Amino acid sequence: MSVAKPLPHDAARLHVTGSARYVDDIPTPAGCLHLAFGLAEIASGTIARIDLDQTRSAPGVVGVWCAKDLPADCDCSPSAHDEPLLSDDSIHYLGQPVFLVAATSHLAARKAVALASITYEERKPILSIDEALEAGSHFEEGPRIWQKGDAEQAIQSAPHRLDGEIEIGGQEHFYLEGQAALAVPQEGGDMLVHSSTQHPTEIQHKVAHALDIPMHAVRVETRRMGGGFGGKESQGNALAIACAVVALQTGKPAKMRYDRDDDFMVTGKRHDFRIHYSAGFDAKGRLQGLAFKQYARCGWAQDLSLPVADRAMLHATNAYFVPNVRIESHRLKTNTQSATAFRGFGGPQGMLGMERVMDHVAHHLDLDPTAVRQANYFGSDQNAVPAAVQTTPYGQPVEEFALGEMTKALIESSDFKARQDAVRAWNETQPVLKKGLALTPVMFGISFTLTHLNQAGALVHVYQDGSIHLNHGGTEMGQGLFQKVAQVAASRFGVGLETIKITATDTAKVPNTSATAASSGSDLNGMAVLAACDTIRNRMADHLAQLWQVSSDKIAFGDASVTDGNRTISFAEAAKLCYEGRISLSSTGFYRTPKLEWDRLRGQGRPFFYFAYGVSASEVVVDTLSGEYRILRADILHDCGASLNPALDVGQIEGGFVQGAGWLTTEELVWDDKGRLRTHAPSTYKIPACSDRPDVFNVALWDGANQEDTIYRSKAVGEPPFMHGISVLMALSDAVASCGHGYPDLNAPATPERVLAAVRRVQNEL
Ligand code: MTE
Ligand code: MOS
Repeated sequence: MSVAKPLPHDAARLHVTGSARYVDDIPTPAGCLHLAFGLAEIASGTIARIDLDQTRSAPGVVGVWCAKDLPADCDCSPSAHDEPLLSDDSIHYLGQPVFLVAATSHLAARKAVALASITYEERKPILSIDEALEAGSHFEEGPRIWQKGDAEQAIQSAPHRLDGEIEIGGQEHFYLEGQAALAVPQEGGDMLVHSSTQHPTEIQHKVAHALDIPMHAVRVETRRMGGGFGGKESQGNALAIACAVVALQTGKPAKMRYDRDDDFMVTGKRHDFRIHYSAGFDAKGRLQGLAFKQYARCGWAQDLSLPVADRAMLHATNAYFVPNVRIESHRLKTNTQSATAFRGFGGPQGMLGMERVMDHVAHHLDLDPTAVRQANYFGSDQNAVPAAVQTTPYGQPVEEFALGEMTKALIESSDFKARQDAVRAWNETQPVLKKGLALTPVMFGISFTLTHLNQAGALVHVYQDGSIHLNHGGTEMGQGLFQKVAQVAASRFGVGLETIKITATDTAKVPNTSATAASSGSDLNGMAVLAACDTIRNRMADHLAQLWQVSSDKIAFGDASVTDGNRTISFAEAAKLCYEGRISLSSTGFYRTPKLEWDRLRGQGRPFFYFAYGVSASEVVVDTLSGEYRILRADILHDCGASLNPALDVGQIEGGFVQGAGWLTTEELVWDDKGRLRTHAPSTYKIPACSDRPDVFNVALWDGANQEDTIYRSKAVGEPPFMHGISVLMALSDAVASCGHGYPDLNAPATPERVLAAVRRVQNEL
């Protein structure tokens, strides 16, 4: 059976030989137009005058569009219908698309854009969290508040109390393949769109709306993305709509891809957050009451900010049982790019708030931070609340909690205690280079919090030669979803993977799909494919049983053959017999996640089918004269349930950790006081390089099947490992703390500059 095998990514060979086809590699159809946006140069205000004459007459230009030239309603928003494709004269952020150029080449379009002349009436932009708070600029009426027990009272009456605050920066997705779309007009006004999107159905929906045609007239195909990381859930809408509008109006194919700098300037990023906390705890650091204020900078449009901020609230206490909690969430509207989904979807920010509390409490009491974390884990009878009745702040019982055992196992396997002593000894003797070591857990809820999104469809064909065509609603962005789902199909039919054709995601084959997001790609699509395969397999078994005069439960599939125990024929022969017997060899499959029940306004219920767990330990060394640092070693133990593919899962864990560490260390987004993003290229925005990975990097999978009935008892893996990066920030905090006596109060990203400043701070407190 191919499920559970550590097989390489199905397209690995194509990736490394450069022959994997992305949208920009599709051979350009004859007469194809190339599009580029002209972007706003101020962050807030209105357009006073716009002169596009030179743009229009530039070489190669075929057409120029402003908002008034577009069809009635070209909206790009995935939620609140508040994102016109082009500015309606009001400007909401620096980088907002104002006009659209179509030309005979990509370069000609970009050169023509530069010839535009626009004058503005500027308003003072609202850029920061403080400015938004002062102006009362937010997306929901008042803050969202969820609570359990009486946090304030519990904090006041606790033996120990502290307050603090952490600033958490955003993050650019930096998918290697930038946003891209290609629209090819079809007969009768229909439209075919190739899009680099995690959400083909959304592209179909938004294009149909813009063109004012039914969804059946738009077909969207996505073979793969060169990374999405959440940045292609909604941010591809603008390109697809622009291409479709131009294609419809000119009758020519139209293609658009953002230059990297434009991609930075136009598209949304991870939400930056400020989290304020008040904690009340006992002498062992066990929390009795906890209050968070989360401030999310959402940018100019709503996009996915409400569910992102919800998920930050849902992860505000991470893996810890806290009897009294209050979480207040502010969703602030600013004149910046509209912040969007990014791996973890707000979860990382919420979780970091909690890990900061753990670190701060341990420092305050001069206790071992790992011991404080363990003392607060779910599952120990603490704070007079027995483990069996402990729930999350939103009332979900934690039926399975693996972290107690996992943490012990990681402490053992990483030689944590001995290394802690070694770090302490090192720091006592070394004046300049200081080391830090920290262990942090991850408890991540799996399911879309918008409950109706937890559904998926599949379409499977068996051809008469026994080859199998596989289609489902999930998209491939490098995470290995297609291979995992193909392994499911191969296992159901008992054939090898070479028998399965993995096909592009296509809205004409599987309708009404959800975005491939929330890490649920394989959970949802794997189950839908399983259902489709089993329908076909049962029909085949029934037919062969009839032919062979045995009962159908005698028919078994495996080793690329079908047998009743006496006779054995190849799977291909079986397919041919069924075809000749006029048996349908094609089926859809459908799945919906059970047990979910969630009231987001009250913050009560069971938003998650289950939790994915992980624990990591990172060791760093800091140069206290420059603030520079390296990750010396990282050990990760991660729970993928019964892994569908351990090789792909380990890849997700390694990549997630490095991306998470990048978020909290070197990846810094800087806007100037005009609202211009100053870090808009790899020269100024520093993602981790290969050389930044830990020198020693041990990743292991926790051995345990999912207690819930998921696809082969596996667990989702896409986002949870991202949050292992938090152990790097906490290790930096540990190293800085060893330089003096004060609490380091490290904000994120902890760039070398911030680390150096923190070193100075704690030294001065000596
Ligand atoms: N891995 C790679 N290589 N590229 C990506 O773009 N996206 C992440 C994660 N891992 C991503 C990735 C995000 S944000 C999510 S939600 C999941 O993959 C989506 O895929 P899955 O649901 O199939 O795990
Ligand atoms: Mo992932 S942020 O849910 O696309």
